[in-house]
Amino acid sequence: MKKILITGVAGLLGSRLSDWIIDNTNYEVIGIDDLSGGFIENINPKVKFYKFNLTNLNKLKEVFKNENIEIVYHFAAYAAEGLSPFIRKFNYENNIIASSNLITCSIEFNIKRFVFASSMAVYGDKYEPPFHEDLLQAPIDPYGVAKYAVEMDLKIASHQHGLNYTIIRPHNFYGINQNIWDKYRNVLGIWMYQILNKESPTIFGDGSQVRAFSYVDDSVIPFWNASQNDNCKGEIINLGGTKEYSISDACNILINVTGQNIKPVYLEPRHESKYAWATWDKSIELLGFEHKVNLEEGTAKMWEWAKKQPNRERYVWPEYELNKGIYEYWKS
Ligand SMILES: NC(=O)c1ccc[n+]([C@@H]2O[C@H](COP(=O)([O-])OP(=O)(O)OC[C@H]3O[C@@H](n4cnc5c(N)ncnc54)[C@H](O)[C@@H]3O)[C@@H](O)[C@H]2O)c1
Repeated sequence: MKKILITGVAGLLGSRLSDWIIDNTNYEVIGIDDLSGGFIENINPKVKFYKFNLTNLNKLKEVFKNENIEIVYHFAAYAAEGLSPFIRKFNYENNIIASSNLITCSIEFNIKRFVFASSMAVYGDKYEPPFHEDLLQAPIDPYGVAKYAVEMDLKIASHQHGLNYTIIRPHNFYGINQNIWDKYRNVLGIWMYQILNKESPTIFGDGSQVRAFSYVDDSVIPFWNASQNDNCKGEIINLGGTKEYSISDACNILINVTGQNIKPVYLEPRHESKYAWATWDKSIELLGFEHKVNLEEGTAKMWEWAKKQPNRERYVWPEYELNKGIYEYWKS
């Protein structure tokens, strides 16, 4: 049986893609995750699962030696963009060093295609949206810098060693299996956690920031096509979000879906891009992307799932690397 490696297999995108591959293809899925941000319950029982941190190059080489892997999907990362300036060391080790280990093994073991989940964060705040793939990367935070660095490393690996890659820049996918217990990331998940716990949903700034959102199931076939289609080789492709919303509007849509009598609370503004959404024509052409699930439907599905989840303890960073400039809401 041919084998696909999915890193971050316990997380949102990795778990949903592995479910789809198992149900719809003849590939066996090999999964790696350290369960730092995803959950064992999310992993399909048919996945051959290895639990470790990708910063461990020796362990990773063992997996590549034992499994005859053909394709790599790299989803593992800690995607807390706003927090990344306060945990720089962790961010760069976890998001760059881990990725470079995977690139090293993919070169050594002749992987046919490396699909990397980069981020819209590489565009930063100097461009007028919608962001097009041809724009030069200009990230404004360490998370975006890490994604940019990995994109560059893949280009070098392709140029020098012939590694075939496809870079996908997803934009605010949400849905079942998402981590809703982390205080710092996944805006819809943070609000769901707050609403479930009878807290008001929090918004940094005045809520006029603009973002687009997509339901996770709409990402699966495009991600699959990214490793299968020859015309995706060496390409960078935005994925997600054909309709943009202000953050206040998105929050009110979710509040309506939950049927709760609750209002958002507005916090101090934070360091972030105000307007960020991207073009999607390339994803339609090369990946067959279709925006099937709108925000009302998608958040309704996720809310039904969230209500049935165990009451896990909220994840709060035990000690920031830098306290200077940390936002009030994150102090306690
Ligand atoms: N969800 C989105 O809309 C979105 C948007 C932009 C970029 N991305 C990128 O896509 C990828 C997947 O996103 P997601 O939403 O599924 O995130 P997620 O947090 O749900 O999943 C990431 C998984 O990686 C694991 N992980 C993290 N660091 C690891 C390490 N060093 N070694 C082993 N495992 C590790 C975590 O435990 C988690 O299960 C990430 O790289 C993220 O940066 C996602």
